[in-house]
Amino acid sequence: MSPVSHDLKEQLSSLQHEAEEALAKALSLKEVEDLRIDFLGRKGRLTTIKRGVKDIAESERPLVGAFANEVSDAIEALIQKRLSSLKHEALEAQISQETLDVTMPGTFLPMGQLHPLTLVTEEIVNIFQGMGFSAIDDNVCPEVETEYYNFEALNFPPDHPARDMQDTFYTNVASNVLLRSQTSNAQIRYMECHQPPLRVVAPGRVYRNEEVSSRKGVMFHQIEGLLVDEKTTFSDLKGILHEFVRLFFGKERPTRFRNSFFPFTEPSAEVDVQCILCNGAGCRTCGHHGWLEILGAGMVDPNVLKGVGLDTDRYTGFAFGMGIERLAMLQYSIRDLRMFYTNDARFLRQFRGTD
Ligand code: PHE
Repeated sequence: MSPVSHDLKEQLSSLQHEAEEALAKALSLKEVEDLRIDFLGRKGRLTTIKRGVKDIAESERPLVGAFANEVSDAIEALIQKRLSSLKHEALEAQISQETLDVTMPGTFLPMGQLHPLTLVTEEIVNIFQGMGFSAIDDNVCPEVETEYYNFEALNFPPDHPARDMQDTFYTNVASNVLLRSQTSNAQIRYMECHQPPLRVVAPGRVYRNEEVSSRKGVMFHQIEGLLVDEKTTFSDLKGILHEFVRLFFGKERPTRFRNSFFPFTEPSAEVDVQCILCNGAGCRTCGHHGWLEILGAGMVDPNVLKGVGLDTDRYTGFAFGMGIERLAMLQYSIRDLRMFYTNDARFLRQFRGTD
């Protein structure tokens, strides 16, 4: 082998050696990449050495050329090896930083719970379901209602003073569109599309233009009840409401029916229960009367039944409407109605239901 060829081979060997040392010192992927360009790039050191091949004897070129390729492959292999060990080291470092302490306490996510008015509504509905009533889907009976369903179909004649019993919010949608002042619109809406025998309860929101106080608000909730069948009597109504009071308050409670007036029931009554706080002795909650009013009720006026096309010789019915807030206040001894709407978590957290 000629001295020129020999020299070239020497240069190639030492290049490989140098690459090996330089790569061992490279500490990042970027440094390895820079070395690749320096050693194997188009203008790199291997290319420069290879240019000398054309100066040697033709017979020796293949041998030296092959050796140059071997060196190139060897350097490439060294680069790959260094890259993979650097990646491996980086992964190891990451894993050792990200240790997972399984004994650490978890993040506490507080559980939501049902609103007391929802709980009481469900309780009331459950009691009536137990007596064969079914609950009407809320969206069957709109809160934004026409005068017809809130008053007229319920036997309130136009301009009758009874309409003033419930100070009503009218809307500016149209002069006959209002926010319902009672859930009794459910009676008409339900009877219009169902035939007796009927037994339903309908909970929902109602609105009245009242002075806001600890006992009254501009919005509150009612549950309407309606039963229409053959031979329904006032004593059926009394029996059902007595049973309701017994189940709701958990024990026998003195209950009284007072004569009253509603345009859509005849006869009409209001039902009082003996004050659960003072047992009739008289206290602030019952205004020293010893009794608390919980609902209005009565036999459905034949005019109302006729209005929805029912045969009043065959069918009679009764209806009742109770204030949910009032019942919830009694159930939980809450003195101010406004507690229900201010979303004070300290208040709401106290109601856990029965689950
Ligand atoms: N709708 C009446 C009210 O809000 C209550 C009621 C309902 C009375 C059904 C009789 C029958 O005062």
